[in-house]
Amino acid sequence: MRGVCGFLLACVLPLSIATPDRQDPFLWLSALRGRGYVEGSLLADKTGGECPEECDCPPTFPIAMYCDGRGLTAMPTVPSRMKYLYLQHNEISSLSDSALDNATNLVWVMMHHNALTSDKIGKRAFSKLQNLERLYLQHNNLTSVPQNLPRSLRDLRLNKNNINKITPAALEGMDNLTILYINDNSLTEMGTSLKGLNSLLLLDVSGNKLEKVPDSLPERLHQLYLEFNAISSVPEGFLTKFSQLQYIRMAHNDLTDKGIPPNTFNVTGLVELDLSFNKLERIPPVSPTLEHLYLQANHIKEFTVSSFCGVVDVMNFSRLRTVRLDGNEISAGDVPSESALCLRLASNIDV
Ligand SMILES: *[C@@H]1O[C@H](CO)[C@@H](O)[C@H](O)[C@H]1NC(C)=O
Ligand SMILES: *[C@@H]1O[C@H](CO)[C@@H](O)[C@H](O)[C@H]1NC(C)=O
Ligand SMILES: *[C@@H]1O[C@H](CO)[C@@H](O)[C@H](O)[C@H]1NC(C)=O
Ligand SMILES: *[C@@H]1O[C@H](CO)[C@@H](O)[C@H](O)[C@H]1NC(C)=O
Ligand SMILES: *[C@@H]1O[C@H](CO)[C@@H](O)[C@H](O)[C@H]1NC(C)=O
Repeated sequence: MRGVCGFLLACVLPLSIATPDRQDPFLWLSALRGRGYVEGSLLADKTGGECPEECDCPPTFPIAMYCDGRGLTAMPTVPSRMKYLYLQHNEISSLSDSALDNATNLVWVMMHHNALTSDKIGKRAFSKLQNLERLYLQHNNLTSVPQNLPRSLRDLRLNKNNINKITPAALEGMDNLTILYINDNSLTEMGTSLKGLNSLLLLDVSGNKLEKVPDSLPERLHQLYLEFNAISSVPEGFLTKFSQLQYIRMAHNDLTDKGIPPNTFNVTGLVELDLSFNKLERIPPVSPTLEHLYLQANHIKEFTVSSFCGVVDVMNFSRLRTVRLDGNEISAGDVPSESALCLRLASNIDV
């Protein structure tokens, strides 16, 4: 019998691979199972145990369960040995308190692109997953951050939902959280929810309805994305507490000159500053160490070299390589000649 299976496998495999639009490398397994060739051969118990009918648990990687893109409307049973769970691109709308009861070894849970709503996620659905590091819930229909998320999380993605509030406790104590995507939701404020996220390096809250910069921003941030909100001003000294911030994106807000205290963006360490699509009339002073500056589509009327270089001489020049000023009220003729010395590294200045 084994010989026959081996022969069949060799025959069926190329057939499945030849089918177009196959992105899942393990789809051939479902094809085999459908034809009745798998049971008792490929998924023999020596490889690590049971697997729900609707999913694939590759024998070569028995701690991963692939159930993505199968039109599932309900959670499959997750065996306790699993560490990596792929459930993305289905139509799962609920997750009960007990659904993951036996799956306490999970390290990754991928549930993006499903139909989860907040009222159908049990308060304790994730709470027993004490080893969970990655939770992907983007592109669902959540209105709040799920309760009792494990504090062990390192990468949490909640973007593209309808989240309109975040409680102070939602993320509290997530000491290891490094990446938080909560962009493209309906948040009007973040309260003190970001307080104490001491490991956070990337925060994306773009595409919300924030009217001000969130309070208690973690001090170790490298990347801060705030574009597509309704922010009209930034707090005094808002960037001085960051020691490692390199990228700030605040495009598509309502920033005016009045809303930006002097020298806000003149901080060393910044690599990229995006203030495009706002209402600025002047170029704010920036640090000579900045490399990319985006100011297109504002109302800037004057090209001020002093915004880039406090002193212009052979030794003192700006590190800017990209300067975009197109869609403002200045033209090439308004760029003074000493800017060539100051912006000597800029390969193109768009006006
Ligand atoms: C957890 O495991 C127990 C014992 O094997 C079983 O009875 C129960 O149905 C499992 N629960 C889930 C949600 O898989
Ligand atoms: C999300 O929920 C709203 C109402 O709660 C509903 O109208 C909408 O169809 C849902 N969207 C998806 C993608 O499930
Ligand atoms: C953070 O990670 C460290 C090292 O991996 C671990 O010892 C600690 O328990 C984690 N913290 C939380 C809150 O899980
Ligand atoms: C930025 O601040 C420094 C002092 O920290 C100052 O010397 C420099 O002139 C400022 N740059 C601009 C463009 O204002
Ligand atoms: C100009 O460059 C010199 C030499 O590198 C340096 O000592 C001085 O502090 C610079 N001045 C400014 C205002 O950056």
